[in-house]
Amino acid sequence: MRKTIAAIAMMVLAACDSSGDGNNILAEANASGNAAGAAVQNEVGESGATPLQKDQALALMKQRHENYEKIGDAMKGIGRELKAESPDLAEVRSGAAVIAGLAPQVPGWFPAGTGQDVGKTDALDEIWMKPEDFAAKAKAFRESATAFNTAAQGSDLASIRAAHANLGKSCKTCHDLYREKE
Ligand code: HEC
Repeated sequence: MRKTIAAIAMMVLAACDSSGDGNNILAEANASGNAAGAAVQNEVGESGATPLQKDQALALMKQRHENYEKIGDAMKGIGRELKAESPDLAEVRSGAAVIAGLAPQVPGWFPAGTGQDVGKTDALDEIWMKPEDFAAKAKAFRESATAFNTAAQGSDLASIRAAHANLGKSCKTCHDLYREKE
């Protein structure tokens, strides 16, 4: 069992490293209008969702992980700059744009059938037990991501830092409830 878990963990890590354009699978599924596309368009907790095939679910979970890694990397780069005395605002702005671009997609990353009973994921079952609350957390995240992106267009470091702190809180609020602890 230990070996299996290690092997799966390796696969997940390898999958992350080999990320090309992280949105390929989702974009293709949506563009071709097939079952995966339809399922991907179902937002978390929506009834009447097209059930996901296992391979579609696993592909979606891998994509979700890669997208979160992008958000995490962007946030790290931004945090590093904002701690510096004279931050490189170009880096802050590009990171802010990545996060603001991905944030509206979050509700679509959690169709039913992409939880821990299906494959390796840190997404807790509570997501599907409290879909309205989860959607509210995703909405708060989207709003703080937009606000931060707007602040980052300017050059007022105090506003940029304040908006960044708010955004960080929205990550933590969701992780505390809906993501497996390390
Ligand atoms: C609405 C809920 C929610 C919000 C908001 C959110 N996350 Fe997450 N995050 C999750 C869930 C759930 C997972 C686990 C996904 C999985 O394993 O499939 C996750 C996973 C991650 C991961 C991958 C961790 C790993 O080791 O696998 C990173 C990095 C991450 N989030 C960073 C962030 C950052 C940074 C923010 C804010 C800028 C953020 N997240 C906002 C719910 C959220």
